[in-house]
Amino acid sequence: MSNIILIGFMGCGKSTIGKRLSYAFRKPFLDTDKIIEKKADMTISELFERKGEEYFRDMETACIKELIKDTGEYIIAAGGGLALRSENRRLLKELGRVIYLRAMPDTIYERLKKDSTRPLLQGNNPREKIRTMMGERATVYEEAAQIIVDVDGKDFEEIVKEIGEKVL
Ligand code: S3P
Repeated sequence: MSNIILIGFMGCGKSTIGKRLSYAFRKPFLDTDKIIEKKADMTISELFERKGEEYFRDMETACIKELIKDTGEYIIAAGGGLALRSENRRLLKELGRVIYLRAMPDTIYERLKKDSTRPLLQGNNPREKIRTMMGERATVYEEAAQIIVDVDGKDFEEIVKEIGEKVL
């Protein structure tokens, strides 16, 4: 087992579950958003505002390419839009086991309704935005992943246990 990569929509639990998996599997935890923020010396919101989404997406692709060259073994939370580029989906499979944390739109809305750090969800009707974006992305996430874990109504411990059983 090499790297484990968690993908899925914003708020599906990639960071929280990733940190728990990191502890369980004794592998360091990495988050592509954090790597990019550090490299750009800006928050994700600032990056979107000052450089635009395409620039950020190019940084995501570059980030995955660098991780492929890294010989360490990690638990990696991938930004929610990283799997959108077909090139990135291919690179993710090269990087390790890809796990899709699948959630229902209402679960995501409840978790993110007070969040201001996701530029793509700001605006008038975040519930509708989430529903539309998730509809557009569902098959992309499914295509990118080797393993799918449904997270609705499960606590983090259960999800970590399920992932453990599925990856071993
Ligand atoms: C995005 C998800 C975010 C972050 C950026 C864009 C997306 O990451 O990369 O705001 O397009 O889904 P998280 O999934 O970690 O929130």
